Amino acid sequence: MPNDAPQWSRGAENPYLDGVYAPVTREVSADDLPVIGELPRDLNGIYLRNGPNPVFPPRGNYHWFDGDGMLHALHFEDGRASYRNRWIDTTAIRKEREAGKNLWPGYMDPPDASVSGGAGSDGWLKDTANTDIVAFGDRALALWYQCGTPYSVDPKTLSTHGMERFGGALQRQVSAHAKADPATGELMFFDYATRAPYLAYHVADADGQLRHSTPIELPGPRLPHDMAITENYSVLMDLPLFWNPELLARGIHKVEFFAQLPSRFGILGRRADGSEIRWFEAEPAYIYHVVNAWEEGDEIVMDACVTLDPCPAGDRAEGRLSRMLAFLRLEARLHRYRFNLKTGATREERIEDSKNAEFPSIDGRRLGRPSRYAYMAAIPEAPTLLFDGIVKFDTQTGSTETHAFGPGRYGSESPFAPRDGSGSEEDGYLVSFVTDRNTDRSEVLVIDAQAVTAPPVARIQLPQRVPAGFHACWIPA
Ligand SMILES: [Fe+2]
Repeated sequence: MPNDAPQWSRGAENPYLDGVYAPVTREVSADDLPVIGELPRDLNGIYLRNGPNPVFPPRGNYHWFDGDGMLHALHFEDGRASYRNRWIDTTAIRKEREAGKNLWPGYMDPPDASVSGGAGSDGWLKDTANTDIVAFGDRALALWYQCGTPYSVDPKTLSTHGMERFGGALQRQVSAHAKADPATGELMFFDYATRAPYLAYHVADADGQLRHSTPIELPGPRLPHDMAITENYSVLMDLPLFWNPELLARGIHKVEFFAQLPSRFGILGRRADGSEIRWFEAEPAYIYHVVNAWEEGDEIVMDACVTLDPCPAGDRAEGRLSRMLAFLRLEARLHRYRFNLKTGATREERIEDSKNAEFPSIDGRRLGRPSRYAYMAAIPEAPTLLFDGIVKFDTQTGSTETHAFGPGRYGSESPFAPRDGSGSEEDGYLVSFVTDRNTDRSEVLVIDAQAVTAPPVARIQLPQRVPAGFHACWIPA
């Protein structure tokens, strides 16, 4: 157990509170960090990563989605680097600090009617804002796994502005993944719930105002995680992994994979009414993350990471944590869908069928437009979810190149960071926090995206350990 972890988490039997996952206790700001190699002067911007960092011990079981959100940031400017980490100042964290303890039941616990102001698909979970971080205008939005109210954060100082309600118009929640169009600045997002409407879709303008909200009809409650955008359309998902409806009616949340049902992808004009959605069927599957989507002739092309075992059985030896452990041990393959808007037909194919990689990113300037390269986290076989390298996929040829972090070294999602004046989706860098389990020390790797197998061009030494976490983004200067 790292010695910078809180006393209460030491000796925890839950692996997501131990080792590279153990929370840290300090908020640190450090400038002019020591660098091994040379920090490129043409890399200017902020690398932001979100993840769980619980303040208090859990009330019951701890699930990785329960930990209070903490942002870790590396600010690159003129060949210098500074680091900062801050908890997201959520309503939940404030209430818990006042109470001096954890107030909410966890994702694996039964609901507790005495706790009010909850989030999630049926409103009783703690909004930890710990899952994604998305640049929107001059701010970054921290989003939570099972829908919550986004928290708006200053990407430079990491101070929390507060809840983002898009000009006061937000009536519902926001799921873990929202998409900001790099060309128009609009933000597209959805939320889902166990009560009708089970899915709703929204668009906020670049000025931060919510302009469009529309319900999407579904056969029942669903568990979508991500969506896609193209220049003119949004793609929403109805996938056959969801709560058993009979059990849900009795208040029991048990996720099952309904292999007899197709996957359904709903395509909707960017500001169209939900009644106009067109559904495309495909093989039953579950998708956590979309790589990118775009329009090509009559088709919408969508690259995504498809899980191999959507509802994995837990290992009985792992006891009451077995289901969480099994679900978090992601195994996915890069897959391409083509939805023909003229014929209504779907075509699908594996782009690559050997690499287990997830947490995809692309050159963000190409979101919703044709892209060729995907940069993803390499997932080793292990009892918990770890990223032991970065895989660069060429989606045209299916070829891959991997940068391995080395034994006992685990990294974070690595969005493409374009070099100043970058012209192509390889002309830039990949940035990752890497923590060494043997030393409990962390560094930031800067890797040339055109030479991913080469040693990093720079290794920035950090003043504290960065626990493993969820999503990251790159915000250009
Ligand atoms: Fe996600």
